Amino acid sequence: MEGMLRPGAFTNKTVIITGGGTGLGRSMGKYLLELGANLVITSRKMDVLEKTALALEKETGGHVLPVACDVRKYEEIEQVLKQTEARFGKIDAVLNNAAGNFISPTERLSHRAFDIVVDIVLKGTYYTTLAAGKNWIAKSQPGVFLNIVTTYAWTGSGYVVPSACGKAGVLALTRSLAVEWAKYNIRSNAIAPGPFPTEGAWSRLLPGELVKKFDPAQRVPLKRVGQHQELANLAAYLLSDYSAYINGEVITIDGGEWLRNGGEFSHLELVPNEMWDQIEKMRK
Ligand code: HXC
Ligand code: NAP
Repeated sequence: MEGMLRPGAFTNKTVIITGGGTGLGRSMGKYLLELGANLVITSRKMDVLEKTALALEKETGGHVLPVACDVRKYEEIEQVLKQTEARFGKIDAVLNNAAGNFISPTERLSHRAFDIVVDIVLKGTYYTTLAAGKNWIAKSQPGVFLNIVTTYAWTGSGYVVPSACGKAGVLALTRSLAVEWAKYNIRSNAIAPGPFPTEGAWSRLLPGELVKKFDPAQRVPLKRVGQHQELANLAAYLLSDYSAYINGEVITIDGGEWLRNGGEFSHLELVPNEMWDQIEKMRK
């Protein structure tokens, strides 16, 4: 699994990734560093960020600034922007990747449990977007937003309802600002990943025995989960100038999963060939 963009594609570019210390944020950050970017990673846990920053600098030879920031606190986001400019001079792109999620029947949730997920996913994204957007507009600087959503941002999904509400809001934000802020040369796009194994997602969405009961790969027509580099390639492209004419788009990278599960007759994949032979005979 190889990187896709030309070497040096992100030289002199600075990218901020929220939730960049773990999982998919870390993988996308690593690839941007390999392409020459300066990277800022943020999340609530400074110890995790510092460890990741050291490891990534060692692995790639790039520069990583870890900054503790809870995306639900606007002042902390403003601090991230200040520290980024102090260290790297300017900000070129923001990758809104931080999220919170867990599975539960909705009637079992407290209103606080609903809040916690929506606040991280939706409020966290619009706070970060508002702060970075104001900064770029005030300086007449171009910028790029890339927001990580999910395919249930548009289908909805039971058992992850706060996340579905939050991600749907992030998708609306992406499309709305793609139009409104285009005049400032600020682009907004989103990626909707299918299943990509991470400790954070798997521990919360497939806890305990569920991981044995439901193999996510079996829900995907391609019969496999995603590889992090596949997502990193798409993210790097959408953050780069190569995608300069893509604005307001959400790109799904799920091996066909959501279409398969929405297809009225997708379950017919369970019909064996012998049965199709019988059906054909009956028809004739
Ligand atoms: C029901 C729960 C719960 C659960 C927490 N709560 N976990 N309710 N089921 N599993 C409730 C608590 O009881 C509490 O409500 C409220 O939520 C706040 O819980 P805390 O534990 O105090 O919150 P906090 O420590 O801030 O942790 C936030 C978190 C946690 C969201 C609950 O999971 C987290 O830190 N997540 C960050 C990373 C993450 O979620 N990564 C996965 C993203 S995967 P009460 O009423 O008791 O006070 C993803 C993939 C999508 O998005 C698509 C996949 C295909
Ligand atoms: P992850 O490793 O748990 O990533 C989530 C990150 O968000 C963590 O680094 C976490 O760090 C950070 N975060 C949570 N609350 C925060 C807050 N209040 N302020 C700042 N940062 C916060 O899980 P992941 O699988 O890589 O998920 C990354 C993104 O991909 C998410 O947007 C998720 O919805 C999306 N996604 C994942 C999958 C998948 O299959 N993995 C599929 C579709 C979409 P701290 O705990 O240190 O704050």
